[in-house]
Amino acid sequence: MPNLNENYLNVKDSYLFAEIARRVKTYEKSHPEKADRIIRLGIGDVTRPLTKRAIQALHEAVDSQASPDTFKGYGPEQGYEFTRRAIADYYGRNGVSVDADDIFISDGAKSDTGNMTEIFARDNVILVPDPVYPVYVDTNIMDGKQVVYMNGTKENDFLPMPDESVKADIIYLCSPNNPTGACYRKEQLAVWVDYALRNEAVILFDAAYEAFVTEPELPRSIYEIEGAKRCAIEFGSLSKTAGFTGTRFSYTVVPKELVFRSSKGEEMSVHAMWNRRQSTKFNGTPYIIQYAAAAVFTAEGMEECRENIRYYMENARKIADTLRRKNIPFTGGVNSPYIWFQCPNGMESWEFFDCLLEHAQVVGTPGAGFGENGRDYFRLTSFGTHEKTAEAMERFEKLL
Ligand SMILES: Cc1ncc(COP(=O)(O)O)c(C=O)c1O
Repeated sequence: MPNLNENYLNVKDSYLFAEIARRVKTYEKSHPEKADRIIRLGIGDVTRPLTKRAIQALHEAVDSQASPDTFKGYGPEQGYEFTRRAIADYYGRNGVSVDADDIFISDGAKSDTGNMTEIFARDNVILVPDPVYPVYVDTNIMDGKQVVYMNGTKENDFLPMPDESVKADIIYLCSPNNPTGACYRKEQLAVWVDYALRNEAVILFDAAYEAFVTEPELPRSIYEIEGAKRCAIEFGSLSKTAGFTGTRFSYTVVPKELVFRSSKGEEMSVHAMWNRRQSTKFNGTPYIIQYAAAAVFTAEGMEECRENIRYYMENARKIADTLRRKNIPFTGGVNSPYIWFQCPNGMESWEFFDCLLEHAQVVGTPGAGFGENGRDYFRLTSFGTHEKTAEAMERFEKLL
């Protein structure tokens, strides 16, 4: 009999979306006449299709596979040079210099944020925000690592800052944040970078929603901060930026400047370790997808994505306006597709979920699913259609 990884016994049941689905199903069964009225503003999946340029590139890449002259088999595990260069150019247009050689192409920020734990030893002090994107926590627990939470509350605008009494080794930051929609300012990230450099810690910076930042002074990459290449890994994704949730494409920047020492004092390059990990366990993102992604990262390709993002952000504005009219304080919705607010009338998040479903047939995400600090909060997303979002907000307004 194999000895199983019993750390899995310590992972909490991932019941959030399953429980949402169960409650919606129960409601539909007991109210069949209302089933068609249900509007889902809960799960963070997109509704806009791929852009023209992405589709055209996908077609081209598929066709190229039909001829022996252009057929592509295994590609480099790190990703094709043309894709890595397209991303480096994208960074460059945003005023950040990233070496194409430091970029690793992958099939999702979920995979890379999860897999990254492998190259770090068990006995690290790992800081994660609460509320949190659950992948950061669960992957570390599966690995037998312990996490320490840092509170994201309305007192700190849901943007935890370093606690000098805690000496962390690995710090997860997500900005713009899922689920709170909050976004760090440059000077706040500079404090984190300074803390990480002083404590020889590494920041795992999840920038999956960077394209949603609309205020130009807010940072979209941790590498906008001096010194960050010596202490930070950055994750990016086309899932929400370009509607690739089903197509699957992401990238991770592991700068060569990121060097720590082994217990014997030898220098160890995190870049070299990640390269070794990927070369051993990953055979690359499909050529077809990388070809389409490279088209998305061009200036023209991104402009098309921006149209979709503007579409979603109109929804965010509608949701935010409704909450404002109802005097419900919230974060997000300006530089993020997520809106996070305290449940009205002292309700807890599952109670409010049931109330919204029962009386308005609107489905959101209870904050409790993202951590202790989310217990009284609720997340709505702007990824719906204009029509459905407007209708949901009308019902929301009538209900409260
Ligand atoms: C904060 C955050 N990081 C990463 C991901 C995963 O992105 P991907 O689709 O690239 O795996 C998500 C998706 O919801 C997310 O919210």
